[in-house]
Amino acid sequence: MPVIIAPSLLSGDFACLGAEVRRMEQSGADWLHLDVMDGCFVPNLTFGAPVIAALRPHTALFFDVHLMIAQPERWLEDHRKAGADGITMHLEACDADALPGNLQRIRAAGARAALSIKPGTPARALFPYLEQLDMALVMTVEPGFGGQAFMADMLPKIKALRSEITRRGLKVQLQVDGGISESTIAAACAAGADSFVAGSAVFNAPDSAAAIAALRRAAEPAG
Ligand code: DX5
Ligand code: ZN
Repeated sequence: MPVIIAPSLLSGDFACLGAEVRRMEQSGADWLHLDVMDGCFVPNLTFGAPVIAALRPHTALFFDVHLMIAQPERWLEDHRKAGADGITMHLEACDADALPGNLQRIRAAGARAALSIKPGTPARALFPYLEQLDMALVMTVEPGFGGQAFMADMLPKIKALRSEITRRGLKVQLQVDGGISESTIAAACAAGADSFVAGSAVFNAPDSAAAIAALRRAAEPAG
């Protein structure tokens, strides 16, 4: 599968989100990553379905919606209707018994289904759900804020997930989110990630197209 570079709008200028979204499309982003936070599951608040719906007409980019909210099952269809192409829930935010049904609901609504784990959650916690996932997300910072340092000690989790996905013959994408930059992306890629969220590394760069191109070059394995 080709490498996916997904700039996170969290690091964009919130005073002109439509223009920021168009700028990312023009800069060569593969997906747009949208961080939904509720001030409860994470200690920060951002935006939700109404803002995503308002952004939808501004771009054809794949909307990769990362729900950092408690009880995400309350909002799955709302985000799909708002224009989410992929919906990522946090494993820690869900009742384990309800998780398979919630993943099924995301797919039934027509979106790709993903599950994320925070740094303190082991890779094996995702194993029971792999068959139901289009993507798994390993957080490489504590979720809540952009601009934090990449946690290299998460690399073994990425490796463990990639090897289990391969062992089962599945086609699950493996995303990393947090602290991804030109200097950290290669290690995440070598560990088995193929989808990369980058907030500050893209939005804070003087030239976002050059930043995305540099991330892509650094991620792609040699040869
Ligand atoms: C953090 C968010 C990330 C954030 C990444 O909780 O999930 O998507 O925007 O920002 P950087 O790339 O700056 O670490
Ligand atoms: Zn995110």
